[in-house]
Amino acid sequence: MNKKTLRDVDLKGKRVVMRVDFNVPIKEGVIKDDTRIKGALPSIQYVLEQGGSLVLMSHLGRPAEKGYEADFSLKPVAEYLSKMLGKPVTFAPDCANADDIVKAMKPGDVVMLENTRFYKEEQGKLKQKEGQSDEEFKAKKAELKEKQKELAKKLASYGDIYCNDAFGTAHRAHASTAVITKYIGTSVAGFLMEKEIAFLGNAVNNPVRPFVAMVSDKLAVVNNLLTKVNTLIIGGGMAYTFLKAQGHNIGKSLCEDDQLQYARDMIAKAKELNVQFLLPVDNIAADAFSNDANIQTVTDDIPEGWMALDIGPKTIELYANAIKGAKTVVWNGPMGCFEMSNFANGTMGVCQAVADSGATTIIGGGDSVAAVNKSGLASKMTHISTGGGASLEFLEGKDLPGVVALSDK
Ligand code: 3PG
Repeated sequence: MNKKTLRDVDLKGKRVVMRVDFNVPIKEGVIKDDTRIKGALPSIQYVLEQGGSLVLMSHLGRPAEKGYEADFSLKPVAEYLSKMLGKPVTFAPDCANADDIVKAMKPGDVVMLENTRFYKEEQGKLKQKEGQSDEEFKAKKAELKEKQKELAKKLASYGDIYCNDAFGTAHRAHASTAVITKYIGTSVAGFLMEKEIAFLGNAVNNPVRPFVAMVSDKLAVVNNLLTKVNTLIIGGGMAYTFLKAQGHNIGKSLCEDDQLQYARDMIAKAKELNVQFLLPVDNIAADAFSNDANIQTVTDDIPEGWMALDIGPKTIELYANAIKGAKTVVWNGPMGCFEMSNFANGTMGVCQAVADSGATTIIGGGDSVAAVNKSGLASKMTHISTGGGASLEFLEGKDLPGVVALSDK
């Protein structure tokens, strides 16, 4: 990565305003998965060890655009972090009005700002309302962009240095992830960001071959991955768009009908590039989207009125064999609806194959991480990403705005 990192700046006596991704699952005030908090600890601890102080900021969830909502407050996260660090974390209840708290900070202090998304200018997104003229909509959008700059300026004013360690949100060009860099001297990557980009970047752009990628979440990644991999394995909901494009009956299975030509083009591109392109050869079909539905294993077309909710045993074997020979595996997205036990065999089967492969294995965030955790095989994987959408955009070959905006080395 050609961007400055925390190691490239003198932190002594400096206040670092750090974007983290503490968008963690919380139920009734209890944090259900702290992977992302743990992931940011090396950067947090490094800044403190070097004699700096920290203003941390993050979003949590997708609050409606109406200001404070208790369910989306980061207060429980600040308390949790304080316990992890063994020191106070001062909570600032309004991210855009924290001057007094920040001014009172001393080296070694940690402040955590409330959810940046309580301000709609954080995302700067606006939908045209029904009946709103194009002109009025354009004017409102421009107004929001101005407000976004103001918020970014305010957040920048809290620190001497900006650090982005929020890989999970690096695909968003928001006030706290990208716009802020325009209003602060130096912007650097944190260690989690650096590690994520290194693992994904090396795997995709400089893989030890054979390189196998297994995806199920986003059709758009196929085009880029085909130019990188030796084998591309398709599972999950995405597979049925490809099967339909090949002329199969897929019953009520998930399908993106407007992408059938794209799917055909991708199959042709794989042939042209001599990439092994694997689709399910059998499936577990259900007559309803329920664990209690009637199910059958089908080796050919999916019967009318039925939907495929998992790959079948022959497909698991086919995919496991392809993974066995790999030296690099990138996996993003489950093979079926693994949350329901009757449709979990495919995902668990390939998960075991990835764990046993001996390859460098990168799990690309989101649902595949949940599956790996459920399988108990997480410790066997080389790298488990903290970014779902961000990993997908990276695999798609897109630039991540949160990285692009950082200072060059
Ligand atoms: C995520 O969980 O993928 C990130 O925190 C980004 O969240 P978002 O999709 O709501 O922007």
